[in-house]
Amino acid sequence: MSFDRRIRIAPSILSADFANFGAECRAIEAQGCDWVHVDVMDGHFVPNITFGPATVRALRPHVGGTLDVHLMIASVDAYLADFAEAGADILTAHVEAGPHIHRTLQAIRGHGVRAGLALNPGTPAEAAAPLLDMVDLVCVMTVNPGFGGQEFLHSQVEKVRSLRRLIGDRPIHIEVDGGVTRQTAPLVAAAGADVLVAGSAVFKGGSVERPDVYGTNIRAIRDAATAALAEAAG
Ligand code: DX5
Ligand code: ZN
Repeated sequence: MSFDRRIRIAPSILSADFANFGAECRAIEAQGCDWVHVDVMDGHFVPNITFGPATVRALRPHVGGTLDVHLMIASVDAYLADFAEAGADILTAHVEAGPHIHRTLQAIRGHGVRAGLALNPGTPAEAAAPLLDMVDLVCVMTVNPGFGGQEFLHSQVEKVRSLRRLIGDRPIHIEVDGGVTRQTAPLVAAAGADVLVAGSAVFKGGSVERPDVYGTNIRAIRDAATAALAEAAG
């Protein structure tokens, strides 16, 4: 069975209505998203604070699919058990979060959760090389982490391409996170990304009362990425 690299759209709830997370998650899933991306921020590793394991636990019953938890926290290891027990399907830690990323990835998998490695814009793709047998996903940040709605960093597209070469045919997803829109999605898909995180580009203009806008936005991003792949295939 070959590894499934179909384009997946993972809306980030950082851009959702914080007073209505359960309904928002149900709405984006009903409108066809593939994963739900949860941005955990501690105000230390990144200059913003969002939520922790209790919110993941509260979201779990409202997400039928994959709960993709992005840990923008340092230190990480002390919280892995809580996030795993809360129901995360994927836990992604930043290589920059501390000196023992190999042990962190071991611990994530030890909890029976898929392991992701995130690279900030200042970190080269090669940083993932020693860890490729420890991960199910590598997340390339295409913004400096901490906020939604930022400008896409075009400099990171080449990193996605390098990472795709490094990964080869290993069963590892390349996730891109930050500034993904229907305009930038084709760039990263053609470079080798298969999971596209999008916050503002999905939630903009919609609401739980107007979830159809979410569906339109999700399809626009996915279709733009898929078209680029078809074009690249010639
Ligand atoms: C940024 C987060 C991203 C962000 C994406 O630190 O990791 O997931 O929410 O938001 P947009 O798609 O609006 O850039
Ligand atoms: Zn994220």
